Amino acid sequence: MSDIIIALDGFSSCGKSSTAKRVAAALQYAFVDTGAMYRAVALYFHRNHIEVSDQRAIEQALTEIEISFVFNSERQASDTYLNGENIEAEIRKMYISDLVSQVSAVPVVRHAMVALQQKMGQKKALVMDGRDIGTVVFPKAELKIFMTAESEIRAQRRKLELLQKGEDLPLEDIKENLRMRDEIDMNRSEGPLKRAEDAIDLDTSHRSMDEQVEFVLAHVRRIQRENK
Ligand code: DC
Repeated sequence: MSDIIIALDGFSSCGKSSTAKRVAAALQYAFVDTGAMYRAVALYFHRNHIEVSDQRAIEQALTEIEISFVFNSERQASDTYLNGENIEAEIRKMYISDLVSQVSAVPVVRHAMVALQQKMGQKKALVMDGRDIGTVVFPKAELKIFMTAESEIRAQRRKLELLQKGEDLPLEDIKENLRMRDEIDMNRSEGPLKRAEDAIDLDTSHRSMDEQVEFVLAHVRRIQRENK
């Protein structure tokens, strides 16, 4: 069976990464959470007091940033590393969520991340989730899924996720962060969040995780049948 690239795009907190992780495990494919890459850059900018308007400092910073993923057997998932430091927990915090959309809207940041992501897909057998995977990173991906969910449900999922990590925030703050990120992600000039014309829609509002995973796997089986 020939290996394919699966692009999962969509809004924040629709279950993209959780779905992608499980699809990748079922197919024994690699999984890349591209949001984590932009979060890592945002953390570096935060720590080094780099403003999103300071083009020169950003270009310099991009030469100093090395992002990698290392499988954590305890979590059964990959942890994100920035220059050798495990930053997985730190980049999920709210102060990074508040900053990351501005950082990911900077064109040179996107160019650097897209180039890295394209390198990761050279051998296919990959599930990648993000905002521009089916439109910019892999416009020829064999399977593109565009994920959505009702905003109330997304906010509640995000609240639960943060609570599990020890951050208890008002639902209204979370809704505002999601609303702000949607707006920046959809309206930036470079690689905006946009449904690829040939993407398949998946509304996760009233689906269980098992159903979401099965939805994607059913399409993988269909493509593999068609490609025989
Ligand atoms: O998936 P996430 O919420 O962890 O992503 C964090 C931010 O990164 C999100 O607000 C938009 C940005 N992002 C992006 O611009 N392009 C991607 N391919 C992935 C994420």
